[in-house]
Amino acid sequence: MKILLENIKELVQVIDDPLLFRAGKEMSRLKTIKNAFLIIRDELIEEYGTMEELKDKYTDDDLLVEIDCTNRLVYPSFCDSHTHIVYAHSREIEFVNRIAGLTYKEIARQGGGILNSAKRLHETSEDELYHSAMDRIFEVMKIGTGAIEIKSGYGLNTDDELKMLRVIQRLKETAPICIRSTFLGAHAIPEKYKSKPSNYVDLIINEMIPQVVADELADFIDVFCDKGFFSPQDTDRILLAGIKYGLRPKIHANELGFTGGVQVGVKYNALSVDHLEYMGDEEIQVLKGTETMPTVLPGAAFFLNLPLSPVRKMIDAGLPVALASDFNPGSSPSGNMSFISSLGCIKYNMIPEEVINATTLNSAYAMGVSDCLGSITKGKTANLFITSEAGSIASLPYNFGSNLIETVIINGEIQSF
Ligand code: NIG
Ligand code: FE
Repeated sequence: MKILLENIKELVQVIDDPLLFRAGKEMSRLKTIKNAFLIIRDELIEEYGTMEELKDKYTDDDLLVEIDCTNRLVYPSFCDSHTHIVYAHSREIEFVNRIAGLTYKEIARQGGGILNSAKRLHETSEDELYHSAMDRIFEVMKIGTGAIEIKSGYGLNTDDELKMLRVIQRLKETAPICIRSTFLGAHAIPEKYKSKPSNYVDLIINEMIPQVVADELADFIDVFCDKGFFSPQDTDRILLAGIKYGLRPKIHANELGFTGGVQVGVKYNALSVDHLEYMGDEEIQVLKGTETMPTVLPGAAFFLNLPLSPVRKMIDAGLPVALASDFNPGSSPSGNMSFISSLGCIKYNMIPEEVINATTLNSAYAMGVSDCLGSITKGKTANLFITSEAGSIASLPYNFGSNLIETVIINGEIQSF
């Protein structure tokens, strides 16, 4: 099956030669082709160029669907490199309590927050978890997401962590989009370990990690390294154990304070360190020249009214930045990457080119899929979207809260939702 997109007003994020990610000044670089065509064969991007070049490349030898993209832009799908979309129930009560004055930390201390989600998850069947998460996948696919990372972390005991990871595995096998799975047993300290948290760390190391790996249920390992959660020393032990079992870290760091999370992540060559509301010069220097992608989660900062990560300072210092949704019931109950793009521009002073690099190429790297997704490149998987009539690459972040995504193509197939 061959699909031809023609008369594309602007084909966005074209990368001719494979590139892992863009950093610093390079983040404002973005190649687009105006008045373009793109050919998809089976599930791959086969060819692209200007409409003038099309006649040399087009042979109508096999079945061809033509899509006229006049006045429309075409983008590679968003890669959402940080989510927690397997969960049992919303946390609207906490939302209202926060409006009334309680903080996220206070709610967590009173057994709300992550512990509340763990209780709900324990009571919910694998089937129900699978179906509600699949609904969320379709919800975000419709609005442009073509790859998603999903974490465990609402289990907090061996059986329930494995249950969550099995749900993610089933989603991987059945959802149309690319999924990567992360083991986050170290998401919160369960009530019964409150007086001796190191015993929970031991359980993660001695029981959970070996089982997760034996059942081949995770691509990455995560720790919530922050104030009131796991210390850098706990994180050090957990990451070391995970690495011994072949799990590369991707960690939650510096959301609630200067906790040493960034440093311990870099020490273990984490693929990404995520959140980063608290970033000083030291954290920025530590990340320079490493293979660790600093990942900012604007939805969580927006929803919890957190201080904003100093993205401008990070990029100006030469770092790469990825943006992801953090879709979860407690701190970011939305996986809308167009809205994340708007926040990137409006709150973090990123220009649209930087936001596009942060939500496609760099976030693909942050979930280990940049060899096949994250840009318009020959041979990459044809996961892309066509906008409605739009003016420029600024249209998506500018029209915050609106959906400008009209047609979605996943694995070379036009989706009808
Ligand atoms: O990324 N910060 C830690 N974990 C999640 C929140 C999870 C929750 O509140 O349920 C986050 O924001
Ligand atoms: Fe998170």
